[in-house]
Amino acid sequence: MVKMMGKKEFSLVGIICMAVAGVFILTVFAHEAKAELASLELGDCVKCHQDVPATVESNGGMHKTAVTCLDCHQEHPPWGEDVIPQCSMCHEGRSHFELENCLSCHSNPHEPLALNLTGDIKEPCLTCHEGPGQDFANYESAHAEQSCTFCHEVHGQIPDCSMCHEPHAEGQVTSDCLGCHPAHHPLQINPAMTTPRAACVPCHEEVGTQLEKTVTKHQSFTCAFCHRGEHPNVPQCQTCHGEPHSQVMHQKMPNCLDCHMDPHFLVK
Ligand code: HEC
Ligand code: HEC
Ligand code: HEC
Ligand code: HEC
Ligand code: HEC
Ligand code: HEC
Ligand code: HEC
Ligand code: HEC
Ligand code: HEC
Ligand code: HEC
Ligand code: HEC
Ligand code: HEC
Repeated sequence: MVKMMGKKEFSLVGIICMAVAGVFILTVFAHEAKAELASLELGDCVKCHQDVPATVESNGGMHKTAVTCLDCHQEHPPWGEDVIPQCSMCHEGRSHFELENCLSCHSNPHEPLALNLTGDIKEPCLTCHEGPGQDFANYESAHAEQSCTFCHEVHGQIPDCSMCHEPHAEGQVTSDCLGCHPAHHPLQINPAMTTPRAACVPCHEEVGTQLEKTVTKHQSFTCAFCHRGEHPNVPQCQTCHGEPHSQVMHQKMPNCLDCHMDPHFLVK
């Protein structure tokens, strides 16, 4: 066989042999490199990278307890360049995980709950909190024109109304305000029947004074006991009293206030 080969054929076979040998050597080398990465143990990282392990130790959250450095960093230079993982490797299947640029908020993957929420943010919040988004869409108000972070500057923090508004009456606090104004649709004012008169009187002084003076049983009522439902709401006497006098009289004089004068200052 060998005898029959010319010089050309020989060098061709030689090249092929060398190539095969080369691939073989490279494969072994690469294999050893992998073995070397595999033998790069967790405890080794800190020998060359001090800051990151310290951050993970103190604030790593689930990225400390649920995964290790090696679950995320599966390669290491010079053996492999694919060293930085995509978040989608492990987080997918929810609208929150379809957002762009995870690191704009989760600014440090080694401290995943240290959030950077600067700027006007709205849509990303709705991936977890649909309710406030629906309120904004369904009810017009000056609040609905704002971003979520206009009020919630730090995640989970609830602002006091007094940060931006004067109260109607002295001593009113946020929980009082919320009794009339739902934070995300503040113009749907629907006070509970137990809302004290003092909450209405600052804007309806005249009525407050009248009701204070009356000596009838209406005197002890809260305003909202009669003015039920969404502000402004004006009730009918008949809703509570029906028609207590004779049919003939009610037909002749249908207007209760012709005799009783004023619901807030009844004449009886
Ligand atoms: C012997 C020292 C040494 C050890 C041990 C080591 N690294 Fe590195 N690491 C380096 C050096 C040097 C670089 C920079 C290499 C480069 O950029 O080419 C680097 C780069 C990195 C990078 C990429 C940084 C970037 O910006 O691209 C990551 C991630 C990383 N190392 C993670 C790890 C993890 C995880 C471990 C433990 C499993 C580890 N390293 C162990 C020395 C080391
Ligand atoms: C949940 C996945 C995840 C885990 C766990 C993780 N990292 Fe990282 N790491 C990343 C990502 C993503 C980046 C790129 C960050 C960027 O681009 O700002 C990174 C960047 C790095 C860098 C380069 C940038 C820097 O901050 O110095 C090093 C070094 C590093 N990681 C080492 C480690 C070590 C050591 C551990 C374990 C103690 C670890 N990482 C655990 C995801 C992770
Ligand atoms: C190797 C897998 C892996 C990668 C890559 C990864 N994560 Fe995670 N991450 C997890 C696991 C597992 C948990 C805990 C279970 C869960 O919440 O899904 C977690 C939890 C989290 C948490 C909640 C932390 C806590 O303490 O409650 C945040 C935030 C987070 N990841 C953000 C990110 C971001 C941003 C990236 C990309 C920079 C990323 N993750 C990349 C595996 C990963
Ligand atoms: C606009 C800011 C923002 C962006 C962008 C963002 N996140 Fe979040 N992420 C948050 C906030 C706020 C939380 C709630 C934190 C909490 O519960 O304390 C959160 C929570 C998480 C959690 C843990 C809680 C859970 O419900 O599982 C994971 C995991 C997470 N984000 C992954 C990601 C990934 C992956 C991306 C990119 C695809 C991403 N985030 C983009 C703001 C953001
Ligand atoms: C970070 C600032 C901020 C906070 C906190 C805030 N508001 Fe407002 N609010 C505004 C701005 C700005 C407007 C529009 C201009 C104005 O009327 O002052 C507004 C308007 C309103 C309006 C009128 C809405 C309209 O469409 O005319 C009501 C009612 C209101 N706020 C109630 C509240 C109540 C109640 C709270 C607490 C639960 C609160 N606000 C918290 C900033 C804020
Ligand atoms: C004008 C200020 C303001 C704006 C803008 C605002 N919030 Fe709120 N938010 C509040 C206040 C005040 C509360 C407390 C309400 C309560 O206790 O009834 C609250 C409560 C919440 C709560 C907890 C109670 C609930 O309704 O689930 C979540 C979640 C929330 N806001 C998310 C958002 C999101 C998402 C946005 C943007 C779409 C947003 N907020 C916009 C002021 C605001
Ligand atoms: C990945 C899901 C996720 C995202 C995105 C997210 N949140 Fe939350 N948020 C939560 C969870 C879970 C809680 C409950 C945490 C708790 O009870 O401590 C919460 C709590 C809150 C609360 C306090 C509720 C209360 O009853 O006290 C407010 C306010 C809030 N988020 C606003 C926002 C705003 C504003 C954004 C956008 C910048 C946002 N959230 C983005 C998951 C998320
Ligand atoms: C008893 C119910 C009630 C309470 C409690 C209440 N409000 Fe109001 N608020 C109203 C009514 C009614 C209006 C007027 C609506 C209109 O003009 O038609 C109003 C109007 C407003 C306006 C619009 C601008 C203005 O002054 O006319 C703001 C802002 C406001 N309230 C903030 C607050 C804040 C902050 C608190 C708590 C300190 C609060 N409100 C408590 C019922 C209430
Ligand atoms: C911040 C000021 C403010 C507060 C607080 C307030 N009101 Fe009013 N109210 C108004 C204004 C302004 C109007 C007239 C404009 C309108 O129709 O919205 C009005 C209208 C009314 C009307 C209808 C008057 C008519 O002629 O049709 C009734 C009834 C009323 N309010 C009852 C109440 C009751 C009850 C409360 C307490 C639960 C209350 N108001 C709290 C400002 C206020
Ligand atoms: C929300 C229900 C409600 C409305 C609306 C209402 N009332 Fe009354 N009223 C009452 C109650 C409750 C009493 C006490 C009944 C009792 O104790 O026997 C009362 C008592 C009275 C009394 C007897 C007063 C006394 O001191 O003995 C008169 C008269 C009266 N109402 C007239 C009216 C007139 C007129 C109107 C319409 C302008 C009106 N009411 C609207 C609930 C209401
Ligand atoms: C017993 C029930 C009752 C109570 C309590 C009551 N109201 Fe009225 N109010 C009425 C009725 C009925 C009318 C409608 C009178 C009419 O038809 O002219 C009315 C009318 C009004 C009006 C519009 C007409 C006007 O007189 O200005 C205002 C504003 C008002 N009430 C505010 C208040 C306030 C504020 C309080 C508490 C301080 C209050 N009301 C307590 C039953 C009541
Ligand atoms: C023609 C005048 C007149 C008209 C109209 C009138 N009332 Fe009277 N009402 C009186 C007088 C006078 C009394 C007190 C006499 C009594 O106690 O029987 C009275 C008493 C009442 C009482 C108290 C009854 C009790 O048992 O203490 C109620 C409630 C009442 N009226 C409701 C109404 C209602 C509701 C209307 C309208 C549908 C109305 N009235 C129309 C004159 C009138």
